Amino acid sequence: MRLERVAAHIPAGAHLADIGSDHGYLPVALMRRGVIAAAVAGEVALTPFNAATRTVHENALEQQITVRLANGLDAIEPGDGITAVSLCGMGGETIRDILESGKARLSGLERLILQPNGGEQPLRQWLMDNDYRILCEEVLRENRFDYEIIVAERGDPVSYTEQELYFGPLQMQARTAAFLGKWQRRLRQKQKTLAHLTRANTAVPEEKRQELVRQTGWITALLG
Ligand SMILES: C[S@@+](CC[C@H](N)C(=O)[O-])C[C@H]1O[C@@H](n2cnc3c(N)ncnc32)[C@H](O)[C@@H]1O
Repeated sequence: MRLERVAAHIPAGAHLADIGSDHGYLPVALMRRGVIAAAVAGEVALTPFNAATRTVHENALEQQITVRLANGLDAIEPGDGITAVSLCGMGGETIRDILESGKARLSGLERLILQPNGGEQPLRQWLMDNDYRILCEEVLRENRFDYEIIVAERGDPVSYTEQELYFGPLQMQARTAAFLGKWQRRLRQKQKTLAHLTRANTAVPEEKRQELVRQTGWITALLG
């Protein structure tokens, strides 16, 4: 379901770069459905690179999907004419670092389809700092995990508040059941952590405790 929801955000006719493609399921499924025109599947590690190569071969899609062993956006070459980049199933900080170190490889015209596993706040911060506007956001729950999908495109400078960076500007407005459920669970976890810190008088840096108190306040206000 997670990759199905990601797939729904890839524009028809896209030239997709799926970075960290692992088994290559996303580009192969989209190509088989005729949704995308071409793809690059990038992988930094040999075992998933081999798995993606095998998936592409088994589906006889070598003409349409190029699998490259490369670090991050180094998988993208100028002649690829990439129009969409997906980075899924990695921590938000990792996705941010891949975007930051590889931004010279982006034309700025690509749609970014990001599915971070945690670390959404620093990822949204990078998007804002680099003039990417968030076009669409989704929270979904699968196998007891809350996943987020963030779709962004580069444009005019955009400004998000601290809370918008934390919760997602569009999520805050849409307030879907999945979104509210995620933050209800997070609130309970954070309250437990705070109670534990207080009871055990654990030596955590004051700055860290303050951050936890601040976030708990934001979530309480959000759920109102
Ligand atoms: C957990 S898998 C996710 C696979 C797939 N994108 C998904 O969402 O199901 C993360 C993959 O990203 C790859 N990866 C991590 N850092 C990378 C980087 N800097 N460049 C390319 N691939 C990377 C890993 O090797 C791994 O195969």
